[in-house]
Amino acid sequence: MTTDSTQRTRVLTGITTTGTPHLGNYVGAIRPTVQASRNKATQGFYFLADYHALIKCDDPARIQRSTLEIAASWMAAGLDPDGVMFYRQSDIPEIPELTWLLTCVTGKGMLNRAHAYKASVDKNNAAGNDPDADVTAGLFMYPVLMGADILMFKAHKVPVGRDQIQHIEMARDMASSFNHLYGEHLVLPEAVIEESVALLPGLDGRKMSKSYDNTIPLFSSSAQLKKLISGIVTDSRAPGEAKDTEGSALFQIYQAFASAEETNNLAKAYADGIGWGDAKQILFERIDREVAPMRAKYEELINNPATVDALLLKGAAKARELATPFIKELRHAVGLRSLASAATTQTGTKTSRAASPAFKQYREKDGQFYFKLVDPQGRVLLQSLGFASPKDAGMAIAQLQQDDAKAMAALGQQVGLGDGVSAANVAEALATLRTELAEKAKGKE
Ligand code: TRP
Repeated sequence: MTTDSTQRTRVLTGITTTGTPHLGNYVGAIRPTVQASRNKATQGFYFLADYHALIKCDDPARIQRSTLEIAASWMAAGLDPDGVMFYRQSDIPEIPELTWLLTCVTGKGMLNRAHAYKASVDKNNAAGNDPDADVTAGLFMYPVLMGADILMFKAHKVPVGRDQIQHIEMARDMASSFNHLYGEHLVLPEAVIEESVALLPGLDGRKMSKSYDNTIPLFSSSAQLKKLISGIVTDSRAPGEAKDTEGSALFQIYQAFASAEETNNLAKAYADGIGWGDAKQILFERIDREVAPMRAKYEELINNPATVDALLLKGAAKARELATPFIKELRHAVGLRSLASAATTQTGTKTSRAASPAFKQYREKDGQFYFKLVDPQGRVLLQSLGFASPKDAGMAIAQLQQDDAKAMAALGQQVGLGDGVSAANVAEALATLRTELAEKAKGKE
């Protein structure tokens, strides 16, 4: 892996390809990820979750169309495919492969508790049906596939909606279990919840969602946008009567697009009794101002699906430069490895994976992130104090792996020697680890 990708914070998120992107998707996912992708201190991984789409949708044409529309929307909104990893999940065969490795370290009981699965079971129970009626194994396994998306690229931060937090927790759990069994390979991710990103209401005032059929597509003609906006529910107050901003879907949608000053002005206009027709005109103009410059780019991409395909394949090739060697490392770790290499290790010295010193990363009840270095007999050689984030802990481990003497000095109190352990013991263990890493890097099985 390049220095670049080990040092920058890796941010990863996906969008499921089951529908036409609407203003809610734009405000909640597309726009914030495009903004985040411009942060040079991070490395972005943005992908089209089309394997996830199969869980919810059995209409092949719709999945294909949605993949094109979401890819085009993301790029039209400013995502630069050269500046980030931008790919389609199903172009990365390492993801389903990792899904299986994770499946084998994931407790079934944990998946029983996943919200989406539990909601289906509760519904079936309430209706007096078999608890698993109409529940596919795909829905049940959804969190594991998502875990593979995240862990494949060692993501540190995963921006998601509130409903997805549990999935990130589960991914952390899978990573811990895997690392515990096979050594420190997977990075524990953290969910990032954008507090400022409000849930956008739809035409009828409920959350804008395909399932309520109350959406406003992100890309439609100006005329269509205007027509849809005119259909947003309002109360029956006449022009001249003061209006409430609270509970007004129109106002909330405006707020998601407007500056604080513009929002204040509309609030004043509400108090002054602006007519609903005029308020809708203001909303239409504000959204159109943001969307209009993106329309040409969107149209161009939508009309050239082969170009979008080529961009996605190029992105997948770039992503696989990371995924292919990593899955090789993981296969080796679990024992899916060349038979000759097993023979060598058997007859050789005690440097096989299983008998190596290893870093273990974990989280304590205090919410902080810790690690320790243990020798093959399980003796603790190094013990850290708490770090604020898994990334900080990971960076300390990386420093130690690079130059333990320098790192020990730099880390000070943060890392201490285990009972009866000398600096020389640590140096020896780290030297063993380093040799192994170097061997692995040479592609030696
Ligand atoms: N499950 C996410 C959603 O429905 C989409 C998704 C799939 C995702 N894989 C992911 C999001 C990995 C973040 C990281 O919103």
